[in-house]
Amino acid sequence: MVLLSLLVGLLPAVLALDETDYTPIVVPLAVRGPYLGAYLTGRQDKNLATMDPHFWTTQPLGWKGLVRIDGETWNWMGNLTDWPACTNASIHHTAAATTFSLHPEPATVELTATFLSPITPADLFRQSLPFSYLHLSVSSLDGQPHQVEVYSEINGLWLADEEDEETTWVHEKGEKGDWVGVRARLDNQRKFAEAYKQDPWSKEWASTDRILQGDVYYAAQTPSSSSGVQTTFSAGHDAMQTRREFASSGTLSSTSNSTSPRPIRTRSSTNSSLVLDEPVFALSHSFGRISPSSSPSSREVLLSIGHVRDPLVRYMISDSDETTTGPDGKERPGEKVIELRPLWASTFTSVGKMLSFFFSDYQYVKEQSEAFNAKLYSDARVVDPEGGDEYAHVVAVSTRQIFMAMEAVWDQNQMSGNEKEVQVAWSPVTGEPVPAMVMLKEISSNGNVNTVDVIAPFLPFLLYASPSLLPLLLEPIYRYMETGLYVPKPPIHDLGDHYPNATGHNDYLYPGLPIEEAGNALMMALAGMRVAQPATSSPTTRTKVVEWWDDQRTRFSGAVGAGQRKIGWESKIGHGRDHRREGARMALGQARERYELMKGWAKYLEEECLYPGDQLFGSSPNQTSLVIKGILGMRAFSEIADDLGETRDRDHFRDVTERYLETFLDLAVAKDGSHLLGSYNNATGWITHYNLYFDVLLGLEVFPQTIYEMQDSFYPTVAEPYGPPLDSRFPTRAKTDWLAWASATCLSSKCRRVFLDGLARYFRASKNAVFGDSITPQEGWSVGFLSRPVAGGHYALLGKEVMAQERRRREQKLLEGEAEGWWFLAVGLGFIIVLVVSWRALSRWKRARSGYIELGGRRAHGTGDGRRGSEFDGGRQVWGAEDSPGMSLFKLELPEEESSEGEEDYAGAHRRRSRIA
Ligand SMILES: *[C@@H]1O[C@H](CO)[C@@H](O)[C@H](O)[C@H]1NC(C)=O
Ligand SMILES: *[C@@H]1O[C@H](CO)[C@@H](O)[C@H](O)[C@H]1NC(C)=O
Ligand SMILES: *[C@@H]1O[C@H](CO)[C@@H](O)[C@H](O)[C@H]1NC(C)=O
Ligand SMILES: *[C@@H]1O[C@H](CO)[C@@H](O)[C@H](O)[C@H]1NC(C)=O
Ligand SMILES: *[C@@H]1O[C@H](CO)[C@@H](O)[C@H](O)[C@H]1NC(C)=O
Ligand SMILES: *[C@@H]1O[C@H](CO)[C@@H](O)[C@H](O)[C@H]1NC(C)=O
Ligand SMILES: *[C@@H]1O[C@H](CO)[C@@H](O)[C@H](O)[C@H]1NC(C)=O
Repeated sequence: MVLLSLLVGLLPAVLALDETDYTPIVVPLAVRGPYLGAYLTGRQDKNLATMDPHFWTTQPLGWKGLVRIDGETWNWMGNLTDWPACTNASIHHTAAATTFSLHPEPATVELTATFLSPITPADLFRQSLPFSYLHLSVSSLDGQPHQVEVYSEINGLWLADEEDEETTWVHEKGEKGDWVGVRARLDNQRKFAEAYKQDPWSKEWASTDRILQGDVYYAAQTPSSSSGVQTTFSAGHDAMQTRREFASSGTLSSTSNSTSPRPIRTRSSTNSSLVLDEPVFALSHSFGRISPSSSPSSREVLLSIGHVRDPLVRYMISDSDETTTGPDGKERPGEKVIELRPLWASTFTSVGKMLSFFFSDYQYVKEQSEAFNAKLYSDARVVDPEGGDEYAHVVAVSTRQIFMAMEAVWDQNQMSGNEKEVQVAWSPVTGEPVPAMVMLKEISSNGNVNTVDVIAPFLPFLLYASPSLLPLLLEPIYRYMETGLYVPKPPIHDLGDHYPNATGHNDYLYPGLPIEEAGNALMMALAGMRVAQPATSSPTTRTKVVEWWDDQRTRFSGAVGAGQRKIGWESKIGHGRDHRREGARMALGQARERYELMKGWAKYLEEECLYPGDQLFGSSPNQTSLVIKGILGMRAFSEIADDLGETRDRDHFRDVTERYLETFLDLAVAKDGSHLLGSYNNATGWITHYNLYFDVLLGLEVFPQTIYEMQDSFYPTVAEPYGPPLDSRFPTRAKTDWLAWASATCLSSKCRRVFLDGLARYFRASKNAVFGDSITPQEGWSVGFLSRPVAGGHYALLGKEVMAQERRRREQKLLEGEAEGWWFLAVGLGFIIVLVVSWRALSRWKRARSGYIELGGRRAHGTGDGRRGSEFDGGRQVWGAEDSPGMSLFKLELPEEESSEGEEDYAGAHRRRSRIA
């Protein structure tokens, strides 16, 4: 304890750093989807030049780089020991990007490598493009001109762990010559299959988490001819031969080796450390002579790496034309498995076109990612003003891996004339909604699909940054539960044993976590619909004005707090819609549609949650944590019923909640009133009650203040340097997500620091080779559960503030209900006056010109011929969409009046005019 308070005392002084100085436990490089997750891992200092990037499973990937300066070659990435390594000057880390600065000794030229995996959490379409950027730039450090060439390569380990897998490759380029690159794939494509390997000790077969389907792309944007940068490539030649070619000439042959397929690596049969052959896919860029006065564009290149599959997942639906017999002997509908395609396929007819878009989108997503990071750091400082920037670092480091677990699918089945409130993502290309769902792989712990108790932990992130993602993640679960193929009452644990097979559990078998899942599902549903004032499906001018007015009021009234900005990521999607309101709209639609299903879950909790039996979680009966979850889950359902006008259900479940709470308080509080027990009838057990977070998050106020006060003084008495253990029965384990959740239930700073400082300390524990969410609270070792999306739970304080803000807004709106009518009238009148005045001015001006009409804001073009169009990205890029019901193949084109300008507006102009369909 003494040591702990000493450490806590020192902390603020030691840790007053910003993101520039921050080296996370593992350094994310290209982190984008379940099969594209590259990190620098390992116990040593994170030095790009002497380390090999690894897949999140810690298996090696080949990603290597050389730089040639005045004819001399240095290694800048991936430990190529035949050449001297660059010195690693600095690492700069943000939520979306990691930037390394490297230089040779003496320091003549600096190479800056930025690995950007964009974070655009409101724009799920962009977020789900399966590519990541690598931006390289060089500059002279000593004031002298230097001849510079930069080389980088990947190998077949991006496709599989097994070196004897055979690969094939082709050289590809953008249709408009806007990019050049290589596409490689396993020769033997096994759709939806992951590689399995036998554990040498346990003899059990386990997935390596590598999928045996799909293509890896490594490509570079074609530099403008004025930049003078020359890009060459090499595809499928042996690694040593390719590197030597570069080291000797500074350029590559731009040829593809025709001896294909070949194994990822061929080793000598007599000496296994001798690699005889290894096809690599390399790009090289000649910058010519660069000097301090060279323009930036002549010193930079943009690369991209991607892992692309189509289709993405198999999904179970029912076939109502047939019947089968379930395991319970009862009749049920037939089974049907469909294949779901990626969301991007709704808009791009080829990967090449998507890649063209991805390259042209760099500046925009870079700015968005930077804005997100800046907002995150400033919001984190507001919610944890005592911890310096440590909490900001924790959430920033956690961000990329949340999206690594997910893939968005195009929900083509929902296209056909469905009147329901469909779940959509907005295409930034067309501005139009695309029916969508999001699939999740339970990373590391196992490969389950859309696990309810893996989504729930990162609910705080979803509320803070991405409210429209929440209903999209829950949709496939609801839909499967509705098929009639799964009969058990509580919600299912997951949609399938192993990603990407979301084939459900038609055998009715599921891990025994039903109270967890029922509580989680109900509380996520309520959180989703209460995160903002739901948008209306097709907003009228009136609702738009109301929404605008609401926003202004929230921003400038007491709802946020004096002198404070609104907490939470704000962004517009599809035709200027607010992404929070969109999320709330979809969640509300979902609750309306799935009300009976949810009611069944609440009833299940009523039956089971007061005296829970053995449930999988640290199996033992009567666990208080489950009772808390159950009680809160029922109360959440009561609130859902209230919002939907179901007053009988509302009252019923409110009563049950109150009755259960009384019993709970009798049985669950320690005799001396010092803390909540871990389970009834065991005086020695306790637990870190993360489930109370739901009470605080949703403002339910079910548990009395005295409980919070009790726990607040209790946690510091059981804390270890890295926070209190999760459960007294397993004192050497804590979970980082639950540390953050519990911190948000504290009343005092002392209690909060116990959790948050523990968490921050772990995030600086670079002795760890990997970043897992299961840790030892005594020493801060990472013990399993690597790189999982539950790290989004670290956003607990931020999510809580977003919800509190929204509650304050609602309360205020109720109070102001009366005054509002008058305000409306006043604003409405003012509006009309402005409109009339400007209309008159406009028509006068128009008459003076030619009669050409433009609608304010969005330009309407081509509406007569069945097309829609919208402006995008400050009006620079205009895309039109083919409006054909049942399909959504989009065409890109430039409206006539713009085709004369924008010609030199980089390659984008060509692409804009090109037709995708
Ligand atoms: C780099 O490679 C050398 C030689 O193969 C090896 O000894 C060293 O451990 C490697 N460095 C890292 C960080 O893996
Ligand atoms: C690389 O740079 C980072 C950031 O400055 C530093 O933490 C790390 O120790 C350096 N590694 C080496 C091997 O120099
Ligand atoms: C998914 O299902 C397919 C078809 O049954 C099978 O070939 C594949 O191995 C499964 N994938 C995983 C990861 O279990
Ligand atoms: C293609 O690669 C094979 C294997 O490394 C090599 O033997 C052959 O010479 C290469 N072909 C060319 C044209 O470089
Ligand atoms: C095996 O190959 C490695 C790498 O080329 C080499 O360093 C080593 O000396 C070789 N060992 C034997 C026994 O030849
Ligand atoms: C759970 O607690 C209740 C109340 O103390 C007790 O009656 C019951 O036997 C307990 N259940 C089990 C399985 O221990
Ligand atoms: C009671 O709690 C203690 C401490 O957590 C634990 O070691 C013990 O196994 C529990 N006893 C029962 C009967 O669950």
